[in-house]
Amino acid sequence: MKFVMVVMLYLSIDSGVDSSQEVMKNLTMNFNKALDVCKKELDLPDSINADFYNFWKPDYEVTNRLTGCAIMCLSTKLELFDPDGKLHHGNAKEFAMKHGADDSMAQQLVDIVHKCENDIPNNEDPCLKVLDIAKCFKTEVHKLNWAPDMELMMGEVLAEV
Ligand SMILES: *[C@@H]1O[C@H](CO)[C@@H](O)[C@H](O)[C@H]1NC(C)=O
Repeated sequence: MKFVMVVMLYLSIDSGVDSSQEVMKNLTMNFNKALDVCKKELDLPDSINADFYNFWKPDYEVTNRLTGCAIMCLSTKLELFDPDGKLHHGNAKEFAMKHGADDSMAQQLVDIVHKCENDIPNNEDPCLKVLDIAKCFKTEVHKLNWAPDMELMMGEVLAEV
């Protein structure tokens, strides 16, 4: 019991220090909420779970096309894309702010996705296109040092207990 409280105190201090990472964790978790629904709808294999679990790891590269399909499905459910497959800036910013980003952080995230949309090579396959955007987004978020360290946090909890 005492250990658990120490861990929780530690985590709350930790999250205060890097609030952008905390917000990114929040965004990631809320973005992934409909994953089971999307997997059922598109009949996607459990093998894509690893891509979602490891997504933010710096040296993990997501290459599975089906993961791109899943990300596209999740984005569509959250109405983050226009019907023509382009980022819906208003909805995306609103989504970020609803889960803890302030105005400037939300705008920056929208700008990153927009930049990624323009930077990636043209691709006829919508799943691969979304996958490329996601990979570009990940790289840019790491540059800002905003990438959530979800795994490290879990490791800390396990080590303490
Ligand atoms: C996480 O998102 C919820 C809404 O889903 C919000 O109420 C909460 O403040 C957010 N937490 C952080 C740390 O941004």
